Amino acid sequence: MKLKGQVAIITGAGRNIGEETAKLLASEGAKIAVVDSDKGRGDNVAAQINSAGGDAKGFVADVASESDITSLVNDVVSQWGRVDILVNNAAVSDNKHILEITKEEWDRVIAVTLTGPFLMSKYVAAQMVKQGGGGKIVNVGSTSGFYGRKRAVAYASAKGGVVSLTRALAVQLAPHNIRVNAAIPNKIGSPVGKSEFDPSRPVVNLRGRPGVPIDLARAVLFLVSDDSDFIVGDILFVDGGVTSMMVGE
Ligand SMILES: NC(=O)c1ccc[n+]([C@@H]2O[C@H](COP(=O)([O-])OP(=O)(O)OC[C@H]3O[C@@H](n4cnc5c(N)ncnc54)[C@H](O)[C@@H]3O)[C@@H](O)[C@H]2O)c1
Repeated sequence: MKLKGQVAIITGAGRNIGEETAKLLASEGAKIAVVDSDKGRGDNVAAQINSAGGDAKGFVADVASESDITSLVNDVVSQWGRVDILVNNAAVSDNKHILEITKEEWDRVIAVTLTGPFLMSKYVAAQMVKQGGGGKIVNVGSTSGFYGRKRAVAYASAKGGVVSLTRALAVQLAPHNIRVNAAIPNKIGSPVGKSEFDPSRPVVNLRGRPGVPIDLARAVLFLVSDDSDFIVGDILFVDGGVTSMMVGE
């Protein structure tokens, strides 16, 4: 087991990519705080992990809320005594064009998708420094953070920020033996904000198949395990090679 006895907080873990990541890290021996703003979803995933012999608990928190996050970190430490791993996975998209998005819609997407990972990292890193021994943080980005999109102006902007946040945290937390990296999905399972997989969604990548949540979960496991000990501040694309393709190839 690669993560035996370690405590992991995974945000947005109530379904899809976060759910699969929670289950995979649990199968490697980690205790999992299944964090979601939707209570039913977090509890449901935690129950599935526990019935498979793991150790998990559902926590309700909005990652955009500083008070929710300070309570969350306190509650996780009360439950298991420490935090070794943070996966910043929760995000929301606007799916809006610049000519139609409102300031309120922009603010909410930035608050959840960029400020959320900032706040979570700030309070979890403080706990890691306090307890000693280092830790690992993985930010889940998006190919939308690298390329223009016809829609989703706020989401693309937030995800671009997640890349810069990853590098800034990697530098600032390295002296504390906290390794920070990012995993960058493209079209994995259902679209962000939806739970249904659409088999008719066109697949354009070098693997010729849609991504599935376990593809991203395996990358996160690599980045939080000692297998990636020399990898810091890296941006790992888990996208079937789509960002390597020229338009028309
Ligand atoms: N699915 C894709 O194709 C894809 C592509 C690129 C990037 N990503 C990224 O992967 C990650 C997971 O995507 P997904 O498709 O599994 O998302 P999803 O929408 O299926 O699930 C996200 C979960 O996060 C929760 N959540 C939403 N807002 C929250 C908040 N404020 N606080 C706490 N929890 C909150 C939701 O309740 C939901 O359970 C996201 O960071 C997303 O941007 C996904």
